[in-house]
Amino acid sequence: EQAGKGEYEHFMLKEIYEQPTSLAQAIEGRVDPNAGQVSLEDFEPGTFEDVDSVQLVACGTSYHAALYGSLALNQAGVQATALLANEYSVTAPPVTEDTLVIAVSQSGETADTLNALRQAADEGAETLTVTNVVGSTAARVADDALFIRAGPEIGVAATKTFSSQAVMLTLLAQRIADDVRGEPPADLESLLPALADMPEEIDTLLEESAADAIAREYIDSQSFFFIGRGLGFPVALEGALKFKEITYEHAEGFASGELKHGPLALVTPETPVFAIFTGEEDEKTLKNAEEAQTRGAPVIAVCPDGHRAVEVADDHLAIPDTDSDLAGLHANVQLQLVSYYAADLLGRPIDKPRNLAKSVTVE
Ligand code: G6P
Repeated sequence: EQAGKGEYEHFMLKEIYEQPTSLAQAIEGRVDPNAGQVSLEDFEPGTFEDVDSVQLVACGTSYHAALYGSLALNQAGVQATALLANEYSVTAPPVTEDTLVIAVSQSGETADTLNALRQAADEGAETLTVTNVVGSTAARVADDALFIRAGPEIGVAATKTFSSQAVMLTLLAQRIADDVRGEPPADLESLLPALADMPEEIDTLLEESAADAIAREYIDSQSFFFIGRGLGFPVALEGALKFKEITYEHAEGFASGELKHGPLALVTPETPVFAIFTGEEDEKTLKNAEEAQTRGAPVIAVCPDGHRAVEVADDHLAIPDTDSDLAGLHANVQLQLVSYYAADLLGRPIDKPRNLAKSVTVE
């Protein structure tokens, strides 16, 4: 097992550092920056022409990627909802043959997700899975499969598969919108070059990250909060999930604007707030972060250098000044590192957190 980790102390850290490669693999051959389009040749032209709405079903970290994908679809003008697969049997919205149900699952073996997928298929929906495992049950059950090509992930806490799922769903959102509306969505012009730059930018981010020092500074806190808006919201949820999974500390993710509707009651000098800035109404997120700061909470801004939040915040984790469709995924890499270093300081068994399994094949 040690050999498999190479120079890294844990698989999780290795897998975080593999993201430049896994993302390059995910994107390879699927975008055509010269033609200004998402080619995604995995699907025939016009495959999604008749889609009138999309439901994404998933669990855990994959649910956060699904939520990210649903918001990307909404922003591209396609009606979409992300649903927890384990809730789907009791609360599934109606489907028709023009509903596309996408099961997002790293392993392709999660029982809850497979159940939702089968239920949707029985009810007549089109089905697709976004998965890492060729030959998985999800890939066999769904009408179509889109593989994220992240390579094996050993750490129980998902890292590189989340970023690849989210990127593939971002591409899929563009392709579905293109098929449905007969023309590519307007924001492709900045997305495609940003996507091409992403592997190298993440390399730099990993090299220069201040996550280790930040983890050390706040390790004794009582609770850890994560806030984000738009595509930053699923990243806030994922930041908190990763943190609780491997540190065993209390962490919560909120939509930035929700902080004042309840969670603010929990905010004290003992609750650092990680604020994610994706370029989507950042002024509002900054105001929300300042409300926490007024109650004594230290704010760690996850944003580009030179962003106004850097001056306001107590600490800073830098991300590149990139397209807002991708900024949250860069932020997520910083947050993965914070979780990792915090868990390491606390001496947790990072690759195998207590009570958790890599793939849950029971309901
Ligand atoms: C388990 C893992 C999580 C994972 C979830 C969904 O609970 O511990 O890390 O996100 O399953 O797994 P999947 O393979 O469907 O993405």
